[in-house]
Amino acid sequence: MSAPIAIVGAGSIGTSWAIVFARGGHPVSVYDPDPGRLTAATTEIRGRLQALSEAGLLSEPASTIAARVKMQEELAESLAGAVHIQECAPERLELKRELLATIDTIAEPDAVIGSSSSALTISETANHLRDRERCLVAHPANPPHLLPVVELVPAPFTSAQVTERTSALLTAVGMTPVLIRQEIDGFVYNRLQGAVLREAYCLVRDGVIGVDDLDRVVRDGLGRRWAVIGPFETADLNTRGGIVEHARRMGPAYQRMGAQRGQNDPWDDELVAKVAAQRRALLPLEDWDERVAWRDRQLIAQEQARRRAAPR
Ligand SMILES: NC(=O)c1ccc[n+]([C@@H]2O[C@H](COP(=O)([O-])OP(=O)(O)OC[C@H]3O[C@@H](n4cnc5c(N)ncnc54)[C@H](O)[C@@H]3O)[C@@H](O)[C@H]2O)c1
Repeated sequence: MSAPIAIVGAGSIGTSWAIVFARGGHPVSVYDPDPGRLTAATTEIRGRLQALSEAGLLSEPASTIAARVKMQEELAESLAGAVHIQECAPERLELKRELLATIDTIAEPDAVIGSSSSALTISETANHLRDRERCLVAHPANPPHLLPVVELVPAPFTSAQVTERTSALLTAVGMTPVLIRQEIDGFVYNRLQGAVLREAYCLVRDGVIGVDDLDRVVRDGLGRRWAVIGPFETADLNTRGGIVEHARRMGPAYQRMGAQRGQNDPWDDELVAKVAAQRRALLPLEDWDERVAWRDRQLIAQEQARRRAAPR
């Protein structure tokens, strides 16, 4: 049998994490100080599993998976035997500091403690813990049972083995962990999200576009491609010759746009070469045409799925 997992906090993120681990075969114990949340979470988990099952996205009956999740009104009972604890309490510094310290004193000695925190670093929330080397941020997208990426953000005090173990556990349950190498504000997910949102606000403020039309630019353009490939691969595939050629042609215009917003971070030759080297390791230029054709097939499949879900 797979190792037990504990979820601490049964709100939006905690209930979705419970699905991720139960779907991956683990017994899951969920704690929340609010008994009303535990009742609501049970219903939410069943409903979400049912929806996944109807879409053909589960390899077992929804009821089998739901039966792996047990609600606990006592924190100590929920942590007993757990090899991984995923903290999903509200994003408040003092609350997390106290809660993580309590978890640290009760948890099994070899349990890893992951925090779902969106912005607070583990250096801020766990630096005072006795066993702080077993702690790291494991920040999911919302909802994790539908969006697989998880940012792993260790502190300098986190043991490398703990990060590796968490990465292996998450990969085994179908998630895609990504290592964030510095405890930077907002990590990477929210920095990217924030960059787009900042510009969107400025464009609306300056009367360049309305809110719905801006969303349409993303919904019907940028976002569709980003559903298939990231911004670096997008630039790489947008220009024959790859990302070096893209930077040569488009770099000056993007630099001007950045400078207009007070952001003067030019892509100098050294930086472009660093990015290009990583892209070329992933996609040699001789495979470029084939990858462009693959991207187009993905966009076709996406359009088919869209029409099936909402026929015009
Ligand atoms: N909602 C998002 O989009 C999102 C995305 C990624 C990460 N996160 C992070 O996940 C964490 C949880 O966010 P959420 O959106 O699920 O919040 P939420 O408010 O939906 O749920 C928080 C839950 O924690 C419970 N709780 C309160 N005090 C507690 C305590 N002392 N011990 C245990 N549980 C306690 C509450 O009863 C509630 O059920 C936060 O750190 C948040 O930043 C949220």
